[in-house]
Amino acid sequence: MIQSSNEWFDDQSYWKNNRSFIWTKQRITNSGIGARYAMQLLGACQGDSVLDLACGFGRHSFEFYRNGFSVTGVDLNSDFISEAKLKVIETEASIRFIQADMREFVEPESYNHIVMMYNSFGYFKNPMDDRRVINNCFRSLLPRGKLLISAMGREINQRHMPSGESRHWWEKDGKYRLQECLFNEKSSQLSIKWILLNGSVSSTFNYDVRLYSKQEFLDLLTEVGFDDIQFYGSLKGTPYDGEAHSLVVTAQKPG
Ligand SMILES: C[S@@+](CC[C@H](N)C(=O)[O-])C[C@H]1O[C@@H](n2cnc3c(N)ncnc32)[C@H](O)[C@@H]1O
Repeated sequence: MIQSSNEWFDDQSYWKNNRSFIWTKQRITNSGIGARYAMQLLGACQGDSVLDLACGFGRHSFEFYRNGFSVTGVDLNSDFISEAKLKVIETEASIRFIQADMREFVEPESYNHIVMMYNSFGYFKNPMDDRRVINNCFRSLLPRGKLLISAMGREINQRHMPSGESRHWWEKDGKYRLQECLFNEKSSQLSIKWILLNGSVSSTFNYDVRLYSKQEFLDLLTEVGFDDIQFYGSLKGTPYDGEAHSLVVTAQKPG
């Protein structure tokens, strides 16, 4: 059982303060198309059960539901789950939202599909926790059920940040965000520091994400028991090549 893990993602203020930068208007608008592409890539059929793991406030969960799937959304953040549950009441949607840690959440042989959308994998200090999540997904899938992870591939990061370091800044609604990235080759962790400037007030947030290469995903998923492992460069199903913007991997639990 995981007590309080004290990792960066446990800090609700991180998600609250950075929300408008993480979930830009365009990203929110694209949720519907992203959800449809994901279901196409998985070859999902109407009525199939979908677990949206690390669902945030449920932007894809509601789209899956609209497209005729039976949806469960799971996220650690109690604010996000409360927000999603409120929207369920407002819209009379039939979606189950559960506040839980992905390292612990297992519902054996319950889902046709599990999705982890938009860089929600690789957050843990201990890489064995990543494996634990994949193992939980394997257990929660029905035989022949499929997993989809949309991540920031290690190869893509290498292409964009050949020196292993980068600095950028953005402006949104009069607020500034400064970003410093450092990639640690040994641990495969990308450490990101965000400094938010709002007038004379500044706040600093740090987060780390382990970036997996195509080969590392292949090894991890194979070791856990998945087969038919496929790689794409986007949810549209474009190739994972030098043009790819993200690493989308799908894998099937044997029948
Ligand atoms: C980048 S957001 C993506 C959210 C959502 N998939 C989307 O596309 O909008 C990552 C999410 O992972 C959730 N998360 C982080 N650690 C988690 C954990 N240990 N268990 C469950 N959810 C977690 C965060 O609360 C956050 O909502």
